[in-house]
Amino acid sequence: MSYADVYDQSMHDPEGFWAEAADALHWDRRWDRVLDADNPPFYHWFQGGLLNTCYNALDRHVAEGRADQPALVYDSPVTATRRIYTYSELRDEVALFAGVLRAHGLEKGDRAVIYMPMVPEAAVAMLACARIGVIHSVVFGGFAAQELATRLDDADAKMVISASCGIEVAKVIPYKPLLDAAIDLAERKPEHCIILQRPQAEAAMTPGRDIDWLEAVHEAQPVDCVPVEATHPLYILYTSGTTGVPKGVVRDNGGHAVALKWSMKHIYGVDPGDAFWAASDVGWVVGHSYIVYGPLLHGCTTILYEGKPVKTPDAGAFWRVISDYNVRVLFTAPTAFRAIRREDPNAELMGNYDLSNFRTLFLAGERCDPDTLHWAEDNLGVPVIDHWWQTETGWPMTANCIGIQQMPVKPGSASLPVPGYDIQVLDAEGNEVARDKIGNIAVKMPMPPGCLPTLWHNDQGFINSYLNEYDGYYLTGDAGKKDEDGYLWIMSRIDDIINVAGHRLSTGGMEEVLASHHDVAECAVIGPNDKLKGEIPLGFAVLKAGVDRPHDEITAELVQMVRNKIGPLACFKIALIVDRLPKTRSGKILRGTMKKIADNTPWKMPATIDDPVILDEITEALAKAGYPKQ
Ligand code: COA
Ligand code: AMP
Repeated sequence: MSYADVYDQSMHDPEGFWAEAADALHWDRRWDRVLDADNPPFYHWFQGGLLNTCYNALDRHVAEGRADQPALVYDSPVTATRRIYTYSELRDEVALFAGVLRAHGLEKGDRAVIYMPMVPEAAVAMLACARIGVIHSVVFGGFAAQELATRLDDADAKMVISASCGIEVAKVIPYKPLLDAAIDLAERKPEHCIILQRPQAEAAMTPGRDIDWLEAVHEAQPVDCVPVEATHPLYILYTSGTTGVPKGVVRDNGGHAVALKWSMKHIYGVDPGDAFWAASDVGWVVGHSYIVYGPLLHGCTTILYEGKPVKTPDAGAFWRVISDYNVRVLFTAPTAFRAIRREDPNAELMGNYDLSNFRTLFLAGERCDPDTLHWAEDNLGVPVIDHWWQTETGWPMTANCIGIQQMPVKPGSASLPVPGYDIQVLDAEGNEVARDKIGNIAVKMPMPPGCLPTLWHNDQGFINSYLNEYDGYYLTGDAGKKDEDGYLWIMSRIDDIINVAGHRLSTGGMEEVLASHHDVAECAVIGPNDKLKGEIPLGFAVLKAGVDRPHDEITAELVQMVRNKIGPLACFKIALIVDRLPKTRSGKILRGTMKKIADNTPWKMPATIDDPVILDEITEALAKAGYPKQ
């Protein structure tokens, strides 16, 4: 069938379409209704069905003849380690660790926070939670204690699963002090922490609260999968909202498993037995969906890579992993390719490896500039597909579905709507704009299986954040256009989110941190473009009257505060002290105009500006700091 036929089928008969996809999984009890649409905007896929995600990801493959096939390859250049887990080995490890969780009182519906580096135990912990219906919430290791504390409180986690340290290229980052600080800050304390001790930095343990991973596993009994309702949450994943308070995106078990399993073949074009590599981190949605759940649900071999695209040891790292494990499909962020290209512009290191079985490169997480896409395409000699999605959807909204029909690639476009998604570009009144005109990108409700059913314990927040703008539509937060062939072009965010090396961050959250400095009267954070990371935050602070401390001292404190409160991943390195911020007459800070000046893109004097002279002052401050960057 053609892409157009499959897409039409998904629009005309969504229930039939997804019921057929769901048949590819093992259900302990078949659903009563494919879609329960009785209480919009709260839709429930596979109502009445019972299944277990871990069973479908592991036990099922063991039972069906994949026991000895590699399920997960751990490749860690930073520790010079490789470990391969077959499906039966991974199933056994997960069953034992689920026994540890059970022995410490965790039952279906309890929450466990996982704060781990890229070690296989992170995937084991996630799958073990899934095995017994415990809801996991993975927090990315680059977040600071305060961010972790916010998540511990919101999820009301009974247990934390962590490791003594992470390794960033050659730097050992102790995780345990961050965890201890987060627990001190949190109002709701976990009962226990299970800590994986890594030899690079052993952690001090708190008696009575902390449990050693290895000792606990040694004493544990394996446990079986617990069938859960399709609508039971599998995980909560926090993502940046428009304030400093992150949003707890909920993922259910049934819709998620169905969508991911379907996506492996139809979007990524891989078959069971193929090696699939998402070079991301388990702390992000890409890691959840395409390091852990998607490839395993499909019976693939997944690669868990603890390293970087460059410097571990060089810009040939990705090609080495592809050739070592016969990777068919690689999924990463464009920034990784920009980093590789910067170090090895002619891709000379590629020649050292056999990439003959490599079939497709998928990129997402940020806009892919055509230049990077062409560089990858020319050097790899395979299709390079830009596709678009977000934490909330859990799987792609647009893609070139190569498993259905490979469509022409249009560099700069994030491809075509994925079956199941009715994507429309709307104007302020909610009318669809003409082709090639920019508007707000929205998805008609109900969204397909796998997308967020709500926010954790916050139905009203779900409505306020996504559904209030347009009746019956989910607002993605991205602006863009649809061209005459139906391809989507994602242009920018319509809120204060910026994208730093494929990581989604709120400038509002950073402003909250700057504003808490005792010398700062007001502030603004913008995200100027950056050649490597897409965008990099840049802060402006106006000092309180009478503050006469050296500006360098204050800006260094501001930089450190963002690092301490949000984390190093924010890459907040520059703060500028200015006398005044440009505003509209109603007091709105003109962040958009400031960004345009920093980026050296054309801008118009806003008609509502209070005092145009301030923009000259800002231009001057930016110039002193080296903006626009060359
Ligand atoms: N734990 C602790 N700290 C972390 C961390 C983690 N898991 N991940 C990143 N950090 C820290 C880094 O050590 C660095 O700290 P520093 O300021 O002290 O140097 C900071 O956060 C920024 O890290 P990073 O964004 O990795 O920058 P980099 O300059 O070291 O590397 C790239 C640049 C492009 C190689 C890197 O950003 C990259 O691999 N990007 C791909 C992103 C990706 O996969 N995104 C997922 C979406 S698909
Ligand atoms: P996250 O929830 O962290 O995955 O971030 C999602 C956001 O990243 C989207 O809303 C977009 O702003 C951006 N994004 C993701 N993929 C793409 C893409 N292919 N092109 C442009 N922007 C993207």
